[in-house]
Amino acid sequence: MTTIAENEILTRTDAGTPMGDLFREYWIPAAMSSELTADGDPVRLMLLGEKLVAFRDTNGKVGIMDHRCPHRCASLFFGRNEEGGIRCVYHGWKFDADGNCLDMANVPPHQDFKHKVHAKAYKTAERNGMIWVYMGNRQDAPPPLPKLDMAEVPENRVALRFTQRECNYLQGVEGELDTSHVGIMHFGLQDKNAFVDRGDNSKYTVTNRAPEYKLQETDYGYMYAAYRPAEENTTYWRYGQFLFPFWTMPPINDLSTNVLARAYVPMDDTHCMVVALVMKGAYNRAGGGETGSNPDGIAGASQNYPYEPNTTDWYGRWRLKLNARNDYGIDRDVQRTKSYTGIEGVQMQDQAVQESMGGILDRSIEHLAPSDSMITRVRRQMIRMATQHAKDGSLPPSVDRADLYANVRGGQMVAPTNADWIDAYRRELDANPWQNVGAKAAE
Ligand code: FES
Ligand SMILES: [Fe+2]
Repeated sequence: MTTIAENEILTRTDAGTPMGDLFREYWIPAAMSSELTADGDPVRLMLLGEKLVAFRDTNGKVGIMDHRCPHRCASLFFGRNEEGGIRCVYHGWKFDADGNCLDMANVPPHQDFKHKVHAKAYKTAERNGMIWVYMGNRQDAPPPLPKLDMAEVPENRVALRFTQRECNYLQGVEGELDTSHVGIMHFGLQDKNAFVDRGDNSKYTVTNRAPEYKLQETDYGYMYAAYRPAEENTTYWRYGQFLFPFWTMPPINDLSTNVLARAYVPMDDTHCMVVALVMKGAYNRAGGGETGSNPDGIAGASQNYPYEPNTTDWYGRWRLKLNARNDYGIDRDVQRTKSYTGIEGVQMQDQAVQESMGGILDRSIEHLAPSDSMITRVRRQMIRMATQHAKDGSLPPSVDRADLYANVRGGQMVAPTNADWIDAYRRELDANPWQNVGAKAAE
């Protein structure tokens, strides 16, 4: 059972909280590169409960800083993004992307003290269409960017999607670690033939809805596999990964091709940004490829949902048109006849149930089952790492060892029943590095 005190540790990510301080040791996905143009409009960003402003300077460099001007705290969101920096409109102080003060327009030259003033700017990096930020204490020597396969795939092969979710980040993470809901919520009314025709092993999620689990702690986080009998002498495995601080790799497609990663980035404690990176064209199954789970012909399983236009509000980015205010477009007739939920879209279904738990789920009133064993283990691991870090500053190895993230994947596989689950996983990955997956898809 998770106590109220443990739930507080798990879900609170402001500066000064155990989990918030641990998360700040890692590089965090902040925005899409396309959201910022050189000398273009500054953007409000909410990350880990901090109100930030992001801008791209004349030379293309990205600045992310506290939105409050260090002078008298007017918001730099209203600033002028001009000639290599952002200038506060109140008294004209100007800051570059590193937070250096370049000019104090209202101070006579002989009284100027700009060299003593710094905006609170964070280190940023940009790779393959995404902007990352490091909000930790080591601003002079930040750790390396994680070598996730999806962060190495060339930009023209990456499908990147941001979606705001109105709930605590952990509800999103735990949704990915909870594979038994797939055969029920997402595929609940489906006949296995809908999968058989497409040669999709997901059929086993509906022929047996109650898998068992194997679990293993790793240097990057935790790994599990849900298993059920497949055919005679074979077993159907669904491998899934949790990687610190809030990355997941769910088993959407075959393990040989399922090159993807999803981060649940806390905006504040009741909003997160789902950052989904998928390798384009990597799938040999499951129809619609680019954005993951889009099995053609499976009612309710598409990924077609439009966005509201982005606004400049702290919560204005990447919101879906269907949301809690319109019950996610639930169609009760469809629910009776075609799809389990009556809500269209795998991610929309996840969004609906996770937001329905409330802004921050009170985990002390749950009744967890054996199917939640991965969730339980990851909670324990996260609490252990966060409290240890708060106590003596010690860090999980994943902070400084970027290589731990490489060649890690979730995915499905049918293997001989007598094969060891980790050996079988390793063999399949070694035979299908992402570089080959890409080469095959590009042919
Ligand atoms: S508040 Fe920004 S220059 Fe004065
Ligand atoms: Fe789901």
